[in-house]
Amino acid sequence: MRALDGKVAIITGASSGIGYAAAKLFAQEGARLVLGARSKDRLEALVAEITGANGSATAIAGDVRDEDYAIELVETALGRFGGLDVGFNNAGIIGEMVDVQHMTAEAWQDTLDTNLTGAFFGAKHQIPAMIDRGAGSVIFTSSFVGHAIGFAGMASYSASKAGLVGMTKSLAVEHGRNGIRVNSLLPGGTATPMVGDFSNDPSAGDAIAEFHALKRMAQPREIAQAALFLASEAASFVTGSAMVADGGNSVTKI
Ligand SMILES: NC(=O)c1ccc[n+]([C@@H]2O[C@H](COP(=O)([O-])OP(=O)(O)OC[C@H]3O[C@@H](n4cnc5c(N)ncnc54)[C@H](OP(=O)(O)O)[C@@H]3O)[C@@H](O)[C@H]2O)c1
Repeated sequence: MRALDGKVAIITGASSGIGYAAAKLFAQEGARLVLGARSKDRLEALVAEITGANGSATAIAGDVRDEDYAIELVETALGRFGGLDVGFNNAGIIGEMVDVQHMTAEAWQDTLDTNLTGAFFGAKHQIPAMIDRGAGSVIFTSSFVGHAIGFAGMASYSASKAGLVGMTKSLAVEHGRNGIRVNSLLPGGTATPMVGDFSNDPSAGDAIAEFHALKRMAQPREIAQAALFLASEAASFVTGSAMVADGGNSVTKI
């Protein structure tokens, strides 16, 4: 028996990085997947890879800032696979990195819309489908940024990621009675294209690695494994948590 046999999962941010690794891992573990992101071509290539390996996946390209997209992802899970068990609301952007006095309202809002409101839209429409199922697991990808570490120029990103931790606590209490678990996953620095958005200095990865007790960044699959735990029955009594998979950066003072 695999960890997600018989389960149906939505993963956003599946075209790249952590979401891409999670899609491949969840599929290997038996989940049937509805994959989301804006890049249609990359999603289609991933679906081909998963189905080519005898997995089951479909993809809908769209923007998590659009509430109708959240509805479409859930309707696809219900129509194609007959229900929904897991919502991995993982899509995110680093946003414009600039000191707060230079941050435009538009840039602030775009980061919040993508990282926080997009996750809210996901949960809002996933939870009713999980109530019908009598159980479910909602996961938000938060971050060590805004939790363990503050970085200059990242006010909007930090606020959005801390906001997910707060929303997690409320939704966990709101829907525990429905058998629905809600958790935030807080990755440490992870080797994905987002690191290039953080800094175009080729040595940025080395500098980020230093923040971690393990003195390296995570590979996306290592974070996907933590998401798999939260998605699976192995985490049956885990809800309302801000679960770190951070290589020890929250306990490191350098
Ligand atoms: N990498 C790290 O060090 C790190 C650490 C802690 C937390 N995180 C969080 O982990 C999550 C995944 O990031 P990653 O590191 O895997 O970065 P990534 O490789 O840049 O992936 C980001 C994903 O989000 C999708 N996305 C962005 N904006 C979107 C939108 N408006 N609508 C739909 N999809 C959107 C992207 O797809 P499209 O561009 O195709 O839309 C992509 O699939 C993010 O929430 C990030 O904040 C990352």
